[in-house]
Amino acid sequence: MYKFKLLLGALAFYGRFFCSFTAIGFYVRRLFWRRFQPDFRGQHWVVTGASAGIGRHIALAAARAGASVTAVARASTKLDEVMATAQAEGLQLQAAPCDLSSMADVSRWLKERTAAQSVDVLVNNAGVMLDEHSLTAEGLDASFATNLLSHYRLTTGLVAAGLLPSAAVVVNMTSGGAYHVPLSTAMLNVTDAARYNGTYAYAFHKRAQIVLSEYWRIRWNAEGRRSYVLHPGWVDTPGVKRSLPKFRAALKRVLRDEAAGADTALWLAATKPAQPIGEHIWFDRKARTAHVAASTLVSRDTAETLVAYLEKAQ
Ligand SMILES: NC(=O)c1ccc[n+]([C@@H]2O[C@H](COP(=O)([O-])OP(=O)(O)OC[C@H]3O[C@@H](n4cnc5c(N)ncnc54)[C@H](OP(=O)(O)O)[C@@H]3O)[C@@H](O)[C@H]2O)c1
Repeated sequence: MYKFKLLLGALAFYGRFFCSFTAIGFYVRRLFWRRFQPDFRGQHWVVTGASAGIGRHIALAAARAGASVTAVARASTKLDEVMATAQAEGLQLQAAPCDLSSMADVSRWLKERTAAQSVDVLVNNAGVMLDEHSLTAEGLDASFATNLLSHYRLTTGLVAAGLLPSAAVVVNMTSGGAYHVPLSTAMLNVTDAARYNGTYAYAFHKRAQIVLSEYWRIRWNAEGRRSYVLHPGWVDTPGVKRSLPKFRAALKRVLRDEAAGADTALWLAATKPAQPIGEHIWFDRKARTAHVAASTLVSRDTAETLVAYLEKAQ
């Protein structure tokens, strides 16, 4: 019976979002958009998870539109390849190796920032769905540390250091997976392997990202700094290949390419649209609902308890 309910839920979800989240939705909506030529000259961007997938595309596209970009990812041949691409095109892109699952490494990265590196656009893009439970040296669930805590620390650290000025834009990444779960701090950092489910852990992190983005939006409103949270759609990336092989095999022909996945992030940074009040998700250049099921509206946790939880966890 339980499996039957799960199957029905999955069918309802895929039935509802198949066209919207795939390339079909992107190409149909694009017919109604104005031409958009971003100009990021004079801006400094920090993009996390910039060595692959959507983050790599955002970093290179921002640099091609004139920004100086700091590309954050773990040191790897992938990061070297992004650097080589940027150098070959004469772009201003610097690699900044950092393991976002390590709070010590995030702190080291923050300490190395100087006043000259004030950030105009911060894209909190890195994200992982880990099938295998993995604890960091600091005793954190590695997916929680990478998907949420690192970005909380990075963002608040830059604000505290005066490196995220009032005109800055922060873009956070969520996922359609967040539509399945409510905010629950108890489900964010699962340190017991027996209780861990990678898909659910990811969904809870992405729900928290929506709540955190709205918290920052309200808190920063008077200063002028912008906080957006977006869903990129279903995009064919190395992450999807690794974590969702069956999903990719079934939908490969209709998954979005990385340019489509990066589109809304670039558009938000360029246009800084006004935001509706209350939780929402930007998707294909429009603010859309943050809840499609009544069950995700019910939570004992609030944005304030989430922030208190993240403060304590870091
Ligand atoms: N693709 C989709 O369909 C989809 C759908 C919804 C939401 N999203 C979200 O969009 C974002 C990008 O997804 P993607 O599919 O492009 O992912 P991806 O292909 O797996 O790329 C992830 C990036 O994050 C970096 N990263 C992972 N762990 C890291 C760590 N500990 N420290 C530093 N960097 C780390 C990776 O670099 P290294 O591993 O080399 O360090 C890589 O550059 C994620 O937040 C994801 O949740 C994607």
